Amino acid sequence: MKFTILTLFPEIVSAFFNASIMAKAVDRGLITYEFVNIRDFAFDKHKTCDDVTYGGGAGMLMLPEPLACALDSVDAKYKHVVFPSPSGRTFTQDDAIRLAKKDEIVLLCGRYEGVDQRIIDEYVDEEVSVGDYVLSSGEVASLVVVDAVYRLVEGVISSSSLENESFVDYLLEYPQYTKPAVFRGRCVPEVLLSGHHANIEKWRHRKRIEKTYTNRPDLIEKSRKSDAWTRENDMILEEFINERDY
Ligand code: ADE
Repeated sequence: MKFTILTLFPEIVSAFFNASIMAKAVDRGLITYEFVNIRDFAFDKHKTCDDVTYGGGAGMLMLPEPLACALDSVDAKYKHVVFPSPSGRTFTQDDAIRLAKKDEIVLLCGRYEGVDQRIIDEYVDEEVSVGDYVLSSGEVASLVVVDAVYRLVEGVISSSSLENESFVDYLLEYPQYTKPAVFRGRCVPEVLLSGHHANIEKWRHRKRIEKTYTNRPDLIEKSRKSDAWTRENDMILEEFINERDY
């Protein structure tokens, strides 16, 4: 899969592509990438890429002309353009799964107050928000999308690591522990040291339900409506709620 990232600040995104799991995926030829510096397409001697908005209001907007030229320069068979913006629909794991099946994705990093609407109308296939907060840098939001997508590309990480992930059945992950068995007086739960695999699985399942109920009750509702939800889950949840209220 190829990521093409249009940005005014390639140095912000390049670190991500040069480290850790992404660097390995690039080395192994599973991922390729290209950065397009939007400023290279500015047409005045000051390399201006932003201006004030028509109709007034605070803040600057990215100019359409350099952006259009930068987008036109992208050499892709089919340009699927993703524009992260706080005004987009919420980006989810389902989007990541869908995008991971594409051969090429183009990400447009916004700056200032955003981009001229005509660029969105003309070029953008999806406008996505990575959460209900405002970032100053579209690069950070683009990297959130890249990270969620590339790790699902076949071969990047082992399929067994993906199997038990949060959001597949809408339940969050169970708590995990590594050595030592006692850390600053806090013990690893007994069951995890027992070697009894069935009990460990039961404990982990219970903790997923408890944690999801505590941190993300909205996901419990989603999970309940899914095929993955069982009668046993209802019982675990009921027990947990009774214990808490007791
Ligand atoms: N750019 C600034 N804030 C953002 C957000 N929440 N999601 C996506 N892009 C953004």
